[in-house]
Amino acid sequence: MIIAIDGPAASGKGTLSRRLADHFGLRHLDTGLTYRAVAASLLANGKPLGDEAIAIEVAHNLDLAQMDKSVLSAHEIGEAASRIAVLGGLREELVKLQRRFAETPPGAVLDGRDIGTVVCPNASVKLFVTASPEARAKRRTDEMISKGQDANYASVLEDLKRRDERDSQRTVAPMKQADDAVLLDTTEMDIETAFQAAVDIISRAKDD
Ligand code: CDP
Ligand code: CDP
Repeated sequence: MIIAIDGPAASGKGTLSRRLADHFGLRHLDTGLTYRAVAASLLANGKPLGDEAIAIEVAHNLDLAQMDKSVLSAHEIGEAASRIAVLGGLREELVKLQRRFAETPPGAVLDGRDIGTVVCPNASVKLFVTASPEARAKRRTDEMISKGQDANYASVLEDLKRRDERDSQRTVAPMKQADDAVLLDTTEMDIETAFQAAVDIISRAKDD
């Protein structure tokens, strides 16, 4: 069983995916971390973000078990990740890794931007999780403050909108709801309500 979860930044797709993986006994991959890990490596080594040959080499040698979410969650890394995410050859390399993960028994929950459209077009269930930009900016701001980081709601909102625009307008694998994905708008939902709604959708799809 493969569950594909796509959606914009801070829509809650990561939190939801982790809980769904636990609930259904599946493995979980946050594919955003794979883009972040490559971006972080280029930044750390002073390489230009447009250097696709090096980005592909880093991707080729990426060890999923070594990706440290706490290090990769930095704001600048998210921004750099969305810049390198326009590189088609890099995406191909990362998609290979993501598919291998998805296809390893007993199956997995993958979250990202192109899981239902490109990485796992044959997923058993697809969700497109979203929320208003304002709700997402509030969540991200609260999250940063709770980690003791500086956060300003207005600039977080502006950054999210810019990243949404870049992710949905790029020519290669843009963020987009797959035709057969179910839309889950969590603007008015807390995590628990969103989780219950997702479990209902997935359980129904499994029974079909
Ligand atoms: O957690 P957040 O939603 O802020 O970002 P992320 O999921 O870690 O993704 C960081 C960036 O990687 C996104 O803005 C996308 O540009 C890119 N990405 C992508 O292109 N395709 C994916 N499947 C996952 C992430
Ligand atoms: O993975 P993505 O960037 O889509 O979002 P996330 O990291 O799962 O969630 C971003 C923040 O919003 C986290 O601090 C969640 O606890 C919070 N959240 C929320 O307050 N209400 C929801 N319905 C979903 C997430």
